[in-house]
Amino acid sequence: MLKSSVKNNIVLIGFMGAGKSLLSQRLSVRLNWTVLSTDDLIVKREGRPITDIFAQSGEPYFRAVEKKVVSDIARKDEIIIDCGGGVVLDPENLAVLKQKGVVFYLSATPEKIYQRIKDQTHRPLLNVPDPLARLEELLAKRQAFYEQADYTIDTNDNDWQRVCEEIEMIMSERAKNMSPDK
Ligand code: S3P
Repeated sequence: MLKSSVKNNIVLIGFMGAGKSLLSQRLSVRLNWTVLSTDDLIVKREGRPITDIFAQSGEPYFRAVEKKVVSDIARKDEIIIDCGGGVVLDPENLAVLKQKGVVFYLSATPEKIYQRIKDQTHRPLLNVPDPLARLEELLAKRQAFYEQADYTIDTNDNDWQRVCEEIEMIMSERAKNMSPDK
């Protein structure tokens, strides 16, 4: 009975370029767990890339589809949920995700994030003349939302193995603490 209350999924949140997708893939290989990416599910559902969704239908439309995708994410065990950077803006999304798993915020400074994403063009919110200023502004607005995660993991050093190990350690400690044998 206790088993049903064990939240056996990993949910990754954080700003664009925080390393969520990269880390999801690494964790997936290490743990042999499936990854569900909210962005991929949106693209599949809409049959068009995210830049087209923003350009043709606008951000509010994108957020509505994103919300449907979050609420539809299968309630399975042992999945990694890779969330788009803006998922947390809707408190109902975060509540759903907290029910489905343990939420990790991957944090990094604006400068570090900028270094990681400056040559990419698939994020409409950052396709502006001064992406670093936009990034700083958005990150400042979103910080409080991200900090509602169960755990914050610093990714500034790009040491993804250490980040994987930290997350795996937390998950296994939680599983131990919730074990019916305890
Ligand atoms: C967004 C982040 C993107 C994608 C969309 C909007 C955001 O996902 O959902 O471009 O508002 O932060 P990534 O965080 O995976 O880049």
